[in-house]
Amino acid sequence: MPETPARPSKPELLRPREMPRRGKGTSLTRRVALIHALAHIEFVAIDLAFDMIGRFGGQFPRAFTDDWMRVGAEEAMHFVLLDRRLREMDSFYGQLPAHEGLWGAAIDTAHDVSARLAIVPMVLEARGLDITLETVERFKQQGDYLTAKVLNRIYDDEINHVSYGTKWFEYVCSERNEPPHAQWKSLVKMHFRGGLKPPFNDSARHAAGLTREYYIGVE
Ligand SMILES: [Fe+2]
Ligand SMILES: [Fe+2]
Repeated sequence: MPETPARPSKPELLRPREMPRRGKGTSLTRRVALIHALAHIEFVAIDLAFDMIGRFGGQFPRAFTDDWMRVGAEEAMHFVLLDRRLREMDSFYGQLPAHEGLWGAAIDTAHDVSARLAIVPMVLEARGLDITLETVERFKQQGDYLTAKVLNRIYDDEINHVSYGTKWFEYVCSERNEPPHAQWKSLVKMHFRGGLKPPFNDSARHAAGLTREYYIGVE
């Protein structure tokens, strides 16, 4: 697999410090900026799903590839839904700059599928579950029910993505005779700087098999 996947020429990728502040502007421009940021996350998530298959699929039964193919297809659908919202708001993916850092976790965990599963679905995508419902409320408060509906759809799918992460992480642990909770905690310490920050969406995490035994004490 290439270390970094091909990218379209737009959006321009900037370091976090160089990103323009999202707080300013009208309600519309702020919503566009937020949807653009979410579309970028979905775009990178497509690459992450197929990198999972290409890089690690050979070590697993066929069901692993089937699961991540489904994830990749859903990420692509999420991207299209958000880009369509941007176009309805006279914008498009690529109009604004985007965060360059999202692929960092992939490079950092390219050596070991256990680390990749622990960080990408079980930390980063689980983080999405923690914050999405609040974001949905913000769009509703501003009368943007169409975006709220798209985000709810994404939320339901993402619970599944986290559950695939947990399922295959536990599969690897049982193959290697490692205790999953302790192993996850040590991988998160090693590969995820800054620690995990509450509040956690315990019920969505639980529905994805990511029980509190995993993330308690890593805060
Ligand atoms: Fe997604
Ligand atoms: Fe996802």
